Amino acid sequence: MTNRIWHERAASLNIDGRAFINGQRSWAVSENTFDNISPIDGRNLGAVARCDTVDVDLAVASARAAFEDGRWASLAPAERKRVLIKFADLMLKHSDELALLETLDMGKPIKYSQSVDVNSASNCLRWYGEAIDKIYDEIAPTASDSLALITREPVGVVAAIVPWNYPMLMASWKIAPALAAGNSVVLKPSEKSPLTALRLAEIAIEAGIPVGVFNVVPGFGHEAGAALALHLDVDCIGFTGSTKIGKQILQMAGQSNLKRAWTELGGKSANIVCADCPDLDEAVEAAIGSIYFNQGESCNAPSRLFVEASIKDKFLEKALAMMPDFQPGDPLDETTVMGAIVDATQLKSVMGYIAAGNAEGAKLLHGGQQVKLESGGYYVSPTIFDQVDSSMKIAREEIFGPVLAVIAFTDIQDAIRQANDTPFGLQAAIWTADLSTAIKTARALRAGTVHVNQYDGDDITVPFGGYKQSGNGRDKSLHAFDKYTELKTTWIRIR
Ligand code: NAI
Ligand code: MG
Repeated sequence: MTNRIWHERAASLNIDGRAFINGQRSWAVSENTFDNISPIDGRNLGAVARCDTVDVDLAVASARAAFEDGRWASLAPAERKRVLIKFADLMLKHSDELALLETLDMGKPIKYSQSVDVNSASNCLRWYGEAIDKIYDEIAPTASDSLALITREPVGVVAAIVPWNYPMLMASWKIAPALAAGNSVVLKPSEKSPLTALRLAEIAIEAGIPVGVFNVVPGFGHEAGAALALHLDVDCIGFTGSTKIGKQILQMAGQSNLKRAWTELGGKSANIVCADCPDLDEAVEAAIGSIYFNQGESCNAPSRLFVEASIKDKFLEKALAMMPDFQPGDPLDETTVMGAIVDATQLKSVMGYIAAGNAEGAKLLHGGQQVKLESGGYYVSPTIFDQVDSSMKIAREEIFGPVLAVIAFTDIQDAIRQANDTPFGLQAAIWTADLSTAIKTARALRAGTVHVNQYDGDDITVPFGGYKQSGNGRDKSLHAFDKYTELKTTWIRIR
């Protein structure tokens, strides 16, 4: 489809900002709403329900009733499998609409909304659906006078609070394992990107998820989000977002009912490229492609590039040659690879970091500007700072924008030390042809994922999450079930 067709479809799209509670669309009880501004052109996409404690209470009550009567939890796993696979199929059927909503809402290029966000979210639901009737429980090795069963049970009502950078995908990473395990779910999307979550709730009903099992409450973090985190009848919370709010989520869980609280938080991932890396072109393409993917708004973006001093000039020459490919374009144009920054607040924050980089003496090699001002939207050119020192703000804090900090090194041990000298520990990478250096460095890097001679290798089969202040627990893979199930021991005496 061409650019024109996507614009026409956007103009005629029916956008519904109402919440989804107990199987129905509804406005907040307070009737409060907020405007949903598209970062593409500053256009108001319409009103969205501004849910608060009252609406959250209704959604949690609906989820609790659905859980208690077993309309979902007590179905045979094979039944839940069939429904989740249908849910995944229907997402693909509505692929164009979901992709368009995602792009209008948060500014990412339409081609990635389709190929990455819709496809990966659908695949996630399918994968957990397919998994659930293939997982067996355990029998403990007790003496012969006893039989001890170790079984998994759904934890109950799960709240999912997700960010705006991959709205549908982050939601799927929570709701797919939670629903597959038999839980009821209340999802709070980011106020910056509520639209696809709301459509997913309708699609879930169409797929056969029973009423009340999956509710969506759009609203602000300090209102709907905090109401969920503090709720006495929510058993578990799955959160993705900033480290700052992640800490508050753990506090609110402790302050209320000690609900299980799982967090996937920020990152400042280090990408270490040694002079003996097997293919310099590949290393440059991965470093550049991954930092600018999703406008740099990825928690696992390799935002600190440690490059061995002897190859730095060659590396940067190749990197600069790629910059024209990443100039921000119209997100509704299928050739665009970098779209709009999610909103004016995030734009201001990214520009503030660029100013800090300049002020602290880093050398701006490319970008550093807001562009496409005539569009009315929020765009930043791909930015590279050379001669960055690890003590600078742009090397320490998560920018969440298209800004790369380049740090030269001569000693790999020193690079590893600097790479680990951060509160974050989400991802890291090492590029070298020396197998022992690769293994030793991968072991030394304190991160949930370490990439070797690539950066974006990833799929649903592997855990995703962080060390240190990048969070706790893991999304994806069978390990995600650990978060949304309780382990029960049943000890039976045999007479
Ligand atoms: P955030 O942490 O403020 O928001 C994430 C989610 O938490 C949203 O749904 C928000 O409404 C909710 N929330 C906010 N305050 C809350 C509260 N008091 N109680 C309960 N829920 C609350 O992240 P935001 O504002 O979307 O982005 C800010 C920064 O966070 C980014 O610049 C980036 O550094 C980081 N971030 C990291 C992400 C990751 O995937 N690791 C994703 C998005 C943001
Ligand atoms: Mg938006």
